[in-house]
Amino acid sequence: MKRIPVKTGSPYDVCIGRGLLDECGPLLRERFRADGRKADAPCRAALISDTNVFPLYGARVRASLEKAGFSVVSYAFEAGEASKNLKTYGSILRFLAAEHLSRSDVIVALGGGVTGDMAGFAAATFLRGIPFLQIPTSLLAMVDSSVGGKTAVDLPEGKNLVGAFHQPCLVVCDPDVLKTLPEAVLKDGSAEVIKYGMLGNETFFDELERTPIREQAENVIETCVAMKRDVVEADEFDTGERRKLNLGHSFGHAIEKCSEFGISHGLAVAAGMAIITKAAVAKGFCEAGALPRLLSLLEKHGLPTDTDFSAARLAEAALSDKKFSGGRIHLIVPEKVGRCRILPVPASELADWLKAGGVL
Ligand SMILES: NC(=O)c1ccc[n+]([C@@H]2O[C@H](COP(=O)([O-])OP(=O)(O)OC[C@H]3O[C@@H](n4cnc5c(N)ncnc54)[C@H](O)[C@@H]3O)[C@@H](O)[C@H]2O)c1
Ligand SMILES: [Zn+2]
Repeated sequence: MKRIPVKTGSPYDVCIGRGLLDECGPLLRERFRADGRKADAPCRAALISDTNVFPLYGARVRASLEKAGFSVVSYAFEAGEASKNLKTYGSILRFLAAEHLSRSDVIVALGGGVTGDMAGFAAATFLRGIPFLQIPTSLLAMVDSSVGGKTAVDLPEGKNLVGAFHQPCLVVCDPDVLKTLPEAVLKDGSAEVIKYGMLGNETFFDELERTPIREQAENVIETCVAMKRDVVEADEFDTGERRKLNLGHSFGHAIEKCSEFGISHGLAVAAGMAIITKAAVAKGFCEAGALPRLLSLLEKHGLPTDTDFSAARLAEAALSDKKFSGGRIHLIVPEKVGRCRILPVPASELADWLKAGGVL
Protein backbone atom coordinates (compact mmCIF):
# COMPACT_ATOMS: atom_id res chain seq x y z
CA MET A 1 0.00 0.00 0.00
CA LYS A 2 1.15 3.51 -0.81
CA ARG A 3 0.28 6.33 1.58
CA ILE A 4 0.28 9.93 0.34
CA PRO A 5 -0.15 12.49 3.13
CA VAL A 6 -2.03 15.68 2.24
CA LYS A 7 -1.19 18.56 4.57
CA THR A 8 -4.15 20.89 4.17
CA GLY A 9 -5.71 22.82 7.10
CA SER A 10 -7.15 19.51 8.16
CA PRO A 11 -4.59 16.86 7.08
CA TYR A 12 -5.34 13.35 5.80
CA ASP A 13 -3.80 10.43 3.93
CA VAL A 14 -4.63 9.01 0.53
CA CYS A 15 -4.07 5.24 0.70
CA ILE A 16 -3.61 3.49 -2.64
CA GLY A 17 -3.35 -0.27 -3.11
CA ARG A 18 -4.97 -3.25 -4.77
CA GLY A 19 -7.58 -4.91 -2.57
CA LEU A 20 -7.78 -1.95 -0.15
CA LEU A 21 -11.57 -1.95 -0.36
CA ASP A 22 -11.50 -4.76 2.20
CA GLU A 23 -9.24 -2.70 4.49
CA CYS A 24 -11.25 0.54 4.62
CA GLY A 25 -12.70 -0.30 8.07
CA PRO A 26 -9.35 -0.85 9.85
CA LEU A 27 -7.81 2.15 8.02
CA LEU A 28 -10.64 4.38 9.22
CA ARG A 29 -10.29 3.06 12.80
CA GLU A 30 -6.58 3.76 12.67
CA ARG A 31 -7.29 7.32 11.55
CA PHE A 32 -9.77 7.83 14.39
CA ARG A 33 -7.26 6.44 16.90
CA ALA A 34 -4.67 8.91 15.62
CA ASP A 35 -7.25 11.64 16.32
CA GLY A 36 -7.35 10.48 19.95
CA ARG A 37 -10.53 8.41 19.81
CA LYS A 38 -10.73 5.17 21.79
CA ALA A 39 -10.23 2.01 19.70
CA ASP A 40 -13.63 0.63 20.69
CA ALA A 41 -15.58 3.92 20.71
CA PRO A 42 -19.00 3.26 19.12
CA CYS A 43 -19.30 4.93 15.74
CA ARG A 44 -21.87 4.82 12.97
CA ALA A 45 -20.94 4.95 9.32
CA ALA A 46 -23.44 6.22 6.72
CA LEU A 47 -22.42 4.60 3.46
CA ILE A 48 -23.53 6.77 0.52
CA SER A 49 -23.25 5.34 -2.98
CA ASP A 50 -25.04 5.19 -6.33
CA THR A 51 -27.18 2.49 -7.91
CA ASN A 52 -24.32 1.21 -10.12
CA VAL A 53 -21.53 1.09 -7.58
CA PHE A 54 -23.44 0.00 -4.47
CA PRO A 55 -24.46 -3.44 -5.84
CA LEU A 56 -20.86 -4.03 -7.00
CA TYR A 57 -18.90 -2.99 -3.92
CA GLY A 58 -21.32 -1.98 -1.15
CA ALA A 59 -21.24 -5.35 0.61
CA ARG A 60 -17.43 -5.50 0.76
CA VAL A 61 -17.17 -1.99 2.17
CA ARG A 62 -19.93 -2.66 4.68
CA ALA A 63 -18.25 -5.92 5.79
CA SER A 64 -14.88 -4.21 6.28
CA LEU A 65 -16.46 -1.36 8.27
CA GLU A 66 -18.46 -3.76 10.42
CA LYS A 67 -15.42 -5.90 11.08
CA ALA A 68 -13.69 -2.80 12.42
CA GLY A 69 -16.61 -2.15 14.77
CA PHE A 70 -18.62 0.47 12.84
CA SER A 71 -22.37 0.07 12.63
CA VAL A 72 -23.32 0.76 9.05
CA VAL A 73 -26.41 2.29 7.44
CA SER A 74 -26.53 2.81 3.67
CA TYR A 75 -28.18 4.96 1.04
CA ALA A 76 -27.89 4.56 -2.76
CA PHE A 77 -29.13 7.27 -5.13
CA GLU A 78 -29.81 6.92 -8.87
CA ALA A 79 -26.42 6.91 -10.66
CA GLY A 80 -25.49 9.82 -12.92
CA GLU A 81 -24.75 13.55 -13.02
CA ALA A 82 -28.50 14.27 -13.28
CA SER A 83 -28.76 13.20 -9.62
CA LYS A 84 -26.16 15.71 -8.44
CA ASN A 85 -28.83 18.21 -7.43
CA LEU A 86 -30.51 19.80 -4.42
CA LYS A 87 -33.21 17.12 -4.38
CA THR A 88 -30.79 14.18 -3.95
CA TYR A 89 -28.67 16.24 -1.58
CA GLY A 90 -31.80 16.94 0.49
CA SER A 91 -32.70 13.24 0.52
CA ILE A 92 -29.22 12.36 1.78
CA LEU A 93 -29.50 14.95 4.58
CA ARG A 94 -32.92 13.62 5.57
CA PHE A 95 -31.56 10.08 5.56
CA LEU A 96 -28.74 11.17 7.89
CA ALA A 97 -31.23 12.92 10.17
CA ALA A 98 -33.59 9.92 10.22
CA GLU A 99 -30.64 7.70 11.17
CA HIS A 100 -29.67 10.16 13.95
CA LEU A 101 -26.12 10.55 12.75
CA SER A 102 -24.03 12.66 15.14
CA ARG A 103 -20.84 14.67 14.72
CA SER A 104 -18.80 11.78 16.08
CA ASP A 105 -20.09 9.52 13.29
CA VAL A 106 -18.79 9.38 9.73
CA ILE A 107 -20.02 9.50 6.14
CA VAL A 108 -18.46 7.07 3.67
CA ALA A 109 -18.66 8.14 0.01
CA LEU A 110 -18.33 5.07 -2.24
CA GLY A 111 -18.45 5.92 -5.93
CA GLY A 112 -17.35 8.30 -8.66
CA GLY A 113 -17.05 12.08 -8.58
CA VAL A 114 -20.81 12.57 -8.35
CA THR A 115 -21.02 10.50 -5.16
CA GLY A 116 -17.90 12.10 -3.66
CA ASP A 117 -19.04 15.65 -4.41
CA MET A 118 -22.55 15.13 -3.11
CA ALA A 119 -21.78 12.97 -0.04
CA GLY A 120 -18.89 15.36 0.67
CA PHE A 121 -21.20 18.36 0.57
CA ALA A 122 -23.65 16.56 2.84
CA ALA A 123 -20.72 15.89 5.21
CA ALA A 124 -19.66 19.54 5.03
CA THR A 125 -23.11 20.82 5.96
CA PHE A 126 -24.92 18.20 8.08
CA LEU A 127 -24.66 19.35 11.72
CA ARG A 128 -22.25 22.03 10.37
CA GLY A 129 -19.77 19.38 9.32
CA ILE A 130 -19.04 15.74 10.11
CA PRO A 131 -16.04 13.61 9.03
CA PHE A 132 -16.12 11.76 5.75
CA LEU A 133 -14.17 8.97 4.11
CA GLN A 134 -13.76 8.99 0.33
CA ILE A 135 -13.62 5.67 -1.50
CA PRO A 136 -13.36 6.80 -5.13
CA THR A 137 -14.27 4.15 -7.72
CA SER A 138 -13.89 5.97 -11.07
CA LEU A 139 -10.52 6.95 -12.53
CA LEU A 140 -11.54 10.60 -12.46
CA ALA A 141 -12.55 10.42 -8.80
CA MET A 142 -9.28 8.67 -7.88
CA VAL A 143 -6.96 11.11 -9.66
CA ASP A 144 -8.94 14.29 -9.21
CA SER A 145 -12.17 14.82 -7.32
CA SER A 146 -11.47 12.77 -4.16
CA VAL A 147 -8.42 14.89 -3.28
CA GLY A 148 -8.60 18.59 -2.53
CA GLY A 149 -11.76 18.99 -0.50
CA LYS A 150 -14.03 20.57 -3.09
CA THR A 151 -17.61 19.37 -2.65
CA ALA A 152 -20.67 20.53 -4.55
CA VAL A 153 -24.05 19.99 -6.15
CA ASP A 154 -25.39 21.40 -9.42
CA LEU A 155 -28.21 23.93 -9.86
CA PRO A 156 -30.38 24.13 -13.00
CA GLU A 157 -28.44 27.38 -13.63
CA GLY A 158 -25.06 25.67 -13.73
CA LYS A 159 -22.75 22.93 -12.50
CA ASN A 160 -21.18 22.97 -9.03
CA LEU A 161 -22.79 26.30 -8.13
CA VAL A 162 -23.41 25.29 -4.49
CA GLY A 163 -20.67 23.72 -2.45
CA ALA A 164 -18.03 23.95 0.24
CA PHE A 165 -14.40 23.19 0.91
CA HIS A 166 -14.45 20.19 3.26
CA GLN A 167 -11.44 17.86 3.36
CA PRO A 168 -12.05 14.11 3.82
CA CYS A 169 -10.53 12.45 6.90
CA LEU A 170 -9.13 9.69 4.69
CA VAL A 171 -9.14 8.58 1.05
CA VAL A 172 -8.96 4.87 0.20
CA CYS A 173 -8.22 4.01 -3.45
CA ASP A 174 -8.41 0.44 -4.73
CA PRO A 175 -7.29 0.32 -8.41
CA ASP A 176 -8.89 -3.14 -8.79
CA VAL A 177 -12.37 -1.57 -8.88
CA LEU A 178 -11.48 0.04 -12.21
CA LYS A 179 -12.02 -3.41 -13.76
CA THR A 180 -15.78 -2.82 -13.75
CA LEU A 181 -15.58 0.80 -14.93
CA PRO A 182 -17.18 1.20 -18.39
CA GLU A 183 -14.66 2.14 -21.14
CA ALA A 184 -16.40 5.46 -21.86
CA VAL A 185 -16.08 6.50 -18.19
CA LEU A 186 -12.42 5.43 -18.12
CA LYS A 187 -11.82 7.54 -21.22
CA ASP A 188 -13.19 10.61 -19.43
CA GLY A 189 -10.74 10.08 -16.58
CA SER A 190 -7.89 9.49 -19.04
CA ALA A 191 -8.20 13.07 -20.28
CA GLU A 192 -7.54 14.33 -16.74
CA VAL A 193 -4.60 11.94 -16.38
CA ILE A 194 -3.01 13.22 -19.61
CA LYS A 195 -3.65 16.74 -18.30
CA TYR A 196 -1.38 16.08 -15.28
CA GLY A 197 1.46 14.95 -17.54
CA MET A 198 1.03 17.91 -19.85
CA LEU A 199 0.83 20.54 -17.14
CA GLY A 200 3.63 19.45 -14.88
CA ASN A 201 5.41 16.12 -15.39
CA GLU A 202 7.19 15.18 -18.61
CA THR A 203 8.48 11.83 -17.25
CA PHE A 204 4.91 10.83 -16.50
CA PHE A 205 3.82 11.96 -19.97
CA ASP A 206 6.56 9.67 -21.41
CA GLU A 207 5.19 6.77 -19.33
CA LEU A 208 1.69 7.40 -20.66
CA GLU A 209 3.06 7.34 -24.21
CA ARG A 210 4.63 3.92 -23.52
CA THR A 211 2.05 2.05 -21.40
CA PRO A 212 -1.80 2.09 -21.46
CA ILE A 213 -3.39 3.55 -18.33
CA ARG A 214 -5.20 0.33 -17.37
CA GLU A 215 -1.86 -1.51 -17.33
CA GLN A 216 -0.26 0.95 -14.92
CA ALA A 217 -3.29 2.08 -12.93
CA GLU A 218 -1.50 2.14 -9.56
CA ASN A 219 1.38 4.25 -10.86
CA VAL A 220 -1.04 6.59 -12.63
CA ILE A 221 -3.14 7.13 -9.50
CA GLU A 222 -0.10 7.64 -7.26
CA THR A 223 1.50 10.15 -9.62
CA CYS A 224 -1.65 12.17 -10.20
CA VAL A 225 -2.63 12.20 -6.52
CA ALA A 226 0.87 13.36 -5.53
CA MET A 227 0.71 16.14 -8.12
CA LYS A 228 -2.75 17.23 -7.06
CA ARG A 229 -1.60 17.08 -3.43
CA ASP A 230 1.32 19.42 -4.17
CA VAL A 231 -0.92 21.93 -5.89
CA VAL A 232 -3.68 21.74 -3.27
CA GLU A 233 -1.22 22.13 -0.38
CA ALA A 234 0.19 25.25 -2.02
CA ASP A 235 -3.25 26.72 -2.72
CA GLU A 236 -6.00 25.03 -0.69
CA PHE A 237 -8.70 27.56 -1.59
CA ASP A 238 -8.01 27.88 -5.31
CA THR A 239 -6.79 31.45 -5.59
CA GLY A 240 -3.50 30.95 -7.46
CA GLU A 241 -1.38 27.93 -8.49
CA ARG A 242 -4.33 25.53 -8.21
CA ARG A 243 -5.68 27.19 -11.34
CA LYS A 244 -3.09 25.21 -13.32
CA LEU A 245 -5.29 22.14 -12.82
CA ASN A 246 -7.72 23.90 -15.13
CA LEU A 247 -5.56 23.19 -18.17
CA GLY A 248 -7.99 22.53 -21.03
CA HIS A 249 -10.95 23.45 -18.83
CA SER A 250 -11.77 27.03 -19.95
CA PHE A 251 -12.44 25.86 -23.49
CA GLY A 252 -13.55 22.42 -22.26
CA HIS A 253 -16.32 23.91 -20.09
CA ALA A 254 -17.39 26.04 -23.06
CA ILE A 255 -17.63 22.92 -25.27
CA GLU A 256 -19.63 21.09 -22.59
CA LYS A 257 -21.98 24.04 -22.30
CA CYS A 258 -22.46 24.50 -26.06
CA SER A 259 -23.27 20.79 -26.35
CA GLU A 260 -25.78 21.19 -23.49
CA PHE A 261 -23.64 18.62 -21.68
CA GLY A 262 -24.10 16.05 -24.46
CA ILE A 263 -20.30 15.96 -24.73
CA SER A 264 -18.85 14.53 -21.53
CA HIS A 265 -16.42 16.46 -19.34
CA GLY A 266 -13.33 14.40 -20.18
CA LEU A 267 -13.87 14.54 -23.93
CA ALA A 268 -14.47 18.30 -23.73
CA VAL A 269 -11.31 18.80 -21.63
CA ALA A 270 -9.29 16.75 -24.14
CA ALA A 271 -10.47 18.98 -27.00
CA GLY A 272 -9.89 22.07 -24.83
CA MET A 273 -6.31 20.96 -24.12
CA ALA A 274 -5.62 20.35 -27.80
CA ILE A 275 -7.07 23.76 -28.77
CA ILE A 276 -5.11 25.74 -26.15
CA THR A 277 -1.90 23.91 -27.09
CA LYS A 278 -2.40 24.64 -30.80
CA ALA A 279 -3.00 28.30 -29.93
CA ALA A 280 0.02 28.40 -27.60
CA VAL A 281 2.25 27.07 -30.39
CA ALA A 282 0.75 29.48 -32.97
CA LYS A 283 1.31 32.43 -30.61
CA GLY A 284 4.87 31.43 -29.76
CA PHE A 285 4.27 30.47 -26.10
CA CYS A 286 4.86 26.74 -26.56
CA GLU A 287 7.54 24.52 -28.11
CA ALA A 288 6.23 23.21 -31.44
CA GLY A 289 7.21 19.61 -30.62
CA ALA A 290 4.72 19.46 -27.74
CA LEU A 291 1.72 19.59 -30.05
CA PRO A 292 2.12 16.37 -32.08
CA ARG A 293 2.95 14.48 -28.87
CA LEU A 294 -0.19 15.71 -27.14
CA LEU A 295 -2.43 15.11 -30.15
CA SER A 296 -1.15 11.59 -30.65
CA LEU A 297 -1.53 10.69 -26.94
CA LEU A 298 -5.10 12.00 -26.93
CA GLU A 299 -5.93 10.12 -30.14
CA LYS A 300 -4.41 6.94 -28.73
CA HIS A 301 -6.96 7.19 -25.90
CA GLY A 302 -9.82 7.78 -28.33
CA LEU A 303 -10.12 11.40 -27.19
CA PRO A 304 -11.07 14.31 -29.49
CA THR A 305 -8.61 17.04 -30.50
CA ASP A 306 -11.00 19.65 -31.96
CA THR A 307 -14.59 20.86 -31.91
CA ASP A 308 -17.36 21.78 -34.37
CA PHE A 309 -18.58 24.77 -32.33
CA SER A 310 -17.58 28.22 -33.58
CA ALA A 311 -15.02 30.46 -31.85
CA ALA A 312 -17.72 33.09 -31.24
CA ARG A 313 -20.10 30.63 -29.50
CA LEU A 314 -17.33 29.10 -27.44
CA ALA A 315 -15.97 32.49 -26.36
CA GLU A 316 -19.44 33.55 -25.23
CA ALA A 317 -19.89 30.32 -23.28
CA ALA A 318 -16.40 30.56 -21.73
CA LEU A 319 -17.04 34.12 -20.59
CA SER A 320 -20.23 33.14 -18.80
CA ASP A 321 -18.22 30.65 -16.70
CA LYS A 322 -17.98 31.35 -12.97
CA LYS A 323 -14.18 31.30 -13.06
CA PHE A 324 -14.14 34.44 -15.21
CA SER A 325 -13.89 37.75 -13.40
CA GLY A 326 -12.75 41.35 -13.82
CA GLY A 327 -12.60 41.56 -17.63
CA ARG A 328 -9.90 38.91 -17.87
CA ILE A 329 -9.83 35.16 -18.07
CA HIS A 330 -6.93 33.11 -16.73
CA LEU A 331 -5.85 30.77 -19.50
CA ILE A 332 -3.56 27.88 -18.63
CA VAL A 333 -1.08 27.91 -21.47
CA PRO A 334 1.38 25.04 -22.11
CA GLU A 335 5.00 26.01 -22.71
CA LYS A 336 6.27 22.47 -23.35
CA VAL A 337 5.27 18.94 -22.38
CA GLY A 338 5.37 19.06 -18.55
CA ARG A 339 5.20 22.82 -18.07
CA CYS A 340 2.48 25.48 -18.33
CA ARG A 341 1.85 29.03 -17.17
CA ILE A 342 -1.15 31.00 -15.98
CA LEU A 343 -1.82 33.80 -18.46
CA PRO A 344 -4.46 36.47 -17.76
CA VAL A 345 -6.04 37.31 -21.12
CA PRO A 346 -8.54 40.14 -21.79
CA ALA A 347 -12.02 38.77 -22.49
CA SER A 348 -11.98 40.53 -25.85
CA GLU A 349 -9.05 38.36 -27.01
CA LEU A 350 -10.62 35.01 -26.23
CA ALA A 351 -12.16 34.39 -29.66
CA ASP A 352 -8.76 35.17 -31.19
CA TRP A 353 -7.14 32.51 -28.98
CA LEU A 354 -9.76 29.99 -30.07
CA LYS A 355 -9.14 30.82 -33.74
CA ALA A 356 -5.40 30.46 -33.21
CA GLY A 357 -6.27 27.03 -31.78
CA GLY A 358 -7.83 26.00 -35.07
CA VAL A 359 -11.48 26.72 -34.13
CA LEU A 360 -13.50 28.29 -36.98
N1 LIG B 1 -14.51 17.91 -6.40
C1 LIG B 1 -13.64 18.06 -7.37
O1 LIG B 1 -12.55 18.58 -7.19
C2 LIG B 1 -14.00 17.55 -8.73
C3 LIG B 1 -13.03 17.48 -9.72
C4 LIG B 1 -13.38 16.94 -10.96
C5 LIG B 1 -14.68 16.51 -11.18
N2 LIG B 1 -15.62 16.60 -10.20
C6 LIG B 1 -16.99 16.12 -10.40
O2 LIG B 1 -16.95 14.71 -10.62
C7 LIG B 1 -18.11 14.33 -11.37
C8 LIG B 1 -17.69 13.35 -12.44
O3 LIG B 1 -17.13 12.21 -11.83
P1 LIG B 1 -17.26 10.76 -12.47
O4 LIG B 1 -16.86 10.81 -13.89
O5 LIG B 1 -16.61 9.81 -11.55
O6 LIG B 1 -18.87 10.57 -12.49
P2 LIG B 1 -19.84 9.53 -11.77
O7 LIG B 1 -19.68 9.54 -10.31
O8 LIG B 1 -21.20 9.80 -12.32
O9 LIG B 1 -19.31 8.12 -12.34
C9 LIG B 1 -19.45 7.85 -13.71
C10 LIG B 1 -20.24 6.55 -13.94
O10 LIG B 1 -19.41 5.45 -13.59
C11 LIG B 1 -20.07 4.60 -12.66
N3 LIG B 1 -19.00 4.00 -11.85
C12 LIG B 1 -18.14 4.62 -11.02
N4 LIG B 1 -17.23 3.76 -10.56
C13 LIG B 1 -17.51 2.56 -11.10
C14 LIG B 1 -16.91 1.27 -11.03
N5 LIG B 1 -15.80 1.05 -10.34
N6 LIG B 1 -17.49 0.26 -11.72
C15 LIG B 1 -18.61 0.47 -12.47
N7 LIG B 1 -19.20 1.67 -12.61
C16 LIG B 1 -18.66 2.70 -11.93
C17 LIG B 1 -21.02 5.51 -11.93
O11 LIG B 1 -22.09 4.79 -11.38
C18 LIG B 1 -21.48 6.43 -13.06
O12 LIG B 1 -22.49 5.80 -13.82
C19 LIG B 1 -18.71 15.61 -11.92
O13 LIG B 1 -19.90 15.89 -11.23
C20 LIG B 1 -17.66 16.68 -11.62
O14 LIG B 1 -18.22 17.95 -11.40
C21 LIG B 1 -15.30 17.11 -8.98
ZN1 LIG C 1 -11.91 18.24 -15.04
